[in-house]
Formats: sequence, structure tokens, C-alpha cells
Amino acid sequence: MHLTAEEEKVYNGERGWAYQTAMKILVKLGDLFDAEKLIPIESAHVSGISYKTLGDAPIEFLEALAKTGAKAKVASTVNPSGLDYEGIMRSAVPETVKEKQEKIVELYKKMGIKPVLTCTPYYVSKPKQGSHLAWAESSAVVYANSVLGSWTNREGGPSALASALIGKTPNYGLHKPENHEPSVRVKVETGLKSEAEYGALGIFLGKNLVDKVPVIEGLRYPREADLKQLGAALASSGMTSVFYPCSRCPKKAENLEKLAVDELTLKKAFEDLSTCSEEPDMVFVGCPHCSLNEVRHVARLVQGRKVKENVMFWVCVSRHVKAKAALHVQAIEAAGGKVVSDLCAVVTWLRELGVDTLMTNSAKTAFYSPTMNKVNVRFATLKQCIETACYK
Ligand code: F3S
Repeated sequence: MHLTAEEEKVYNGERGWAYQTAMKILVKLGDLFDAEKLIPIESAHVSGISYKTLGDAPIEFLEALAKTGAKAKVASTVNPSGLDYEGIMRSAVPETVKEKQEKIVELYKKMGIKPVLTCTPYYVSKPKQGSHLAWAESSAVVYANSVLGSWTNREGGPSALASALIGKTPNYGLHKPENHEPSVRVKVETGLKSEAEYGALGIFLGKNLVDKVPVIEGLRYPREADLKQLGAALASSGMTSVFYPCSRCPKKAENLEKLAVDELTLKKAFEDLSTCSEEPDMVFVGCPHCSLNEVRHVARLVQGRKVKENVMFWVCVSRHVKAKAALHVQAIEAAGGKVVSDLCAVVTWLRELGVDTLMTNSAKTAFYSPTMNKVNVRFATLKQCIETACYK
């Protein structure tokens, strides 16, 4: 990979060990994928913040980087952690876990990386259309590429951090226009009626497309939340990081390989996401974290209702959205729900909270939770989730 004179200096350690390490990570990645050069990025988003998923090993590395005084060169943010700052999780985990989680967040902060602790950084600050990013959260990557028209590969935590420190990323994969070209035409032959059905479609497509770029036709007036669920699910069961939703197939995709999704296929994909039909201990909405509109919608649905005493009802959002949604947060909490920031059900310690069965409208959560949280899952629409969480 060609490096500029300044990049060479960084690579050779003339700007210090932290920047040299970051540059070496990017060069290695660039060489692996035949990138010809590094390109500037508008922002970086780092995943792998939860101590539950990260463990002890990387803390020492983060400490060493932060100790050098190295700082992010571009606007940089982090994914949810395993704990919230309002204390919902605090009584469920030992003191040492809290300390380690706080330390991880502190170390990123020290490197100038904003502790937004959300997987929806685009609600905090929307990237410009056509901008290059280095984002690691897979749901945010597919959203950025497909809904916002930005360009990012699906980074790992270390490469996103390296890009944050250097302010650049190797020019390969989805930074190149030719890799945005659709390679398969998906025909959805049934009307999708809920965000959960969009998620089920995403899981089915992820498994079947692996990493192909689909034009998905037959989607009639999908809402932003529907596309967010579709993308998050698509990136969970497969490696696809960009899709094109449309009501009718564009001319250039007419002759591509075809994949049809009929009503039965979708029904099976939906049903397969449940592992049980038991009453849930927790009903979780907000994977990926809710937008202001979604919080408003949940608040309307719970208005005048009461959450059952034996059910935890969580709505996960970023602190940024929570602050904007004060009245809706009040309404949800008056009904007995909790609007939770800084974490999500998947990356926190659910079993320690006493959760055996989780109900969710998120296909991504339903896909991961049986293995990551070792809980039973019921997958349902938002309305069904709220019907189950609340008294009649
Ligand atoms: Fe976000 Fe957690 Fe889902 S990080 S995308 S809410 S699994």
C-alpha cells in the first residue's frame, strides 16, 4: 500500500508508539485487501465496549495506548457498554465488573472518543451522504451504507480504533463504488406488516445471500425503523453490509440472479426466531437503539396501561435520544417500563438480572440472545410485546 511521507513517519514510530501501532493495523488490513492507499474518514465508531463481551485481555492494550496521550483525529464514538449509568444493572454485577467496565469507557474517553455508548451514532450526529467512515457496529454499518448513503466497511473494534487515531482507513471494499453494485435481485412477494417482519426478512436474506449486495423489491413504503430492523438482521446472519430497498426493480438489476421470498418463507423465518412460547421475564425493545420516533410510538402504545409486576419492560436508547424524549420517557416509566441508556440486553448480564425468557421485536436480539445471553427467546411485533408486557 502506498503511504504518504507523513504516513511513513507515523509507520516508523516518529509520532509515537500508539499512532505507529494504529498505522500498522491499518497497513496490515490494507495490504490484506489490496488497498492502494489510505483515505480520510469523517468519523469512526468503535464496538466491543462491553466488559461482558470484551473480557480482560484488551484492557491492558487500551491502557497502554491511552497512556501515550494519543487522541482520535476525527469525530469518534463507541457502542453500548454492559452497564448503564443510572444503576439498573449495578446491583446485578460484582464491584470488580463495574470497575472494569468503567475503566474501559474511561480509557476510550481519554483517547478523545465520545462515550455516546450507542449502536445508533447516526441519531447523535448524522454522517454526510457520500462520506467515508470507519464504523464497527454491523447494524450501524449497514444503515450508513443503505439508508444514509455513506461508505463504510464493517470494521472490527481494533481497526475502527486505529482509524479513529489516524483519521483514515484503507481504500478497499465498500469504499469503492464498484463494490456497491447490486449482485442479486430479491423479490418480496408478500406485504410486510411490522418492523419484526422486516427483521425476519433480514435474517432469512443474511443466511441466503452471505455477502451479496441485494436490490430488495416489493417493499412498499418501509419506515426508517423497518429498514433499520432489516439491515441489523441482515448483518447478523450474514455479511451483507449494503442493500437497496425499492418498490419496483430498477432497470440495471433486472437481469441479476433472483431470489423470491413468499409468505410461507417469511412466516417460517419469523417463527424460527422464537425458541419458546413461555411468559417472558423481560420484554426488550430498542435493538438497535430506538429513535425519537420509536420512543414516541412506544409511549403512545403504553399510555394508560400498566406493566405487569413480574415483567421487566426495557426500551433502550442513546442518552442523546433519551434527553430529547423526556415526555415520552415519563409516559413509559409511569406505565412501569424503563428507558435505559448506555447498554443493551444483548451485551449486558441478563441472567444475573434473573432473566430466563426474553421477548423482543428485534430479530437481531432474537438471533443472538439464545447463545450470547443463554436465555429463551420469544420473537414478536412491538404491539405483541407491549400486549404481553402490560396488564389487559
Ligand atoms: Fe445495538 Fe445491542 Fe442490538 S449493540 S444493535 S442494541 S445487540
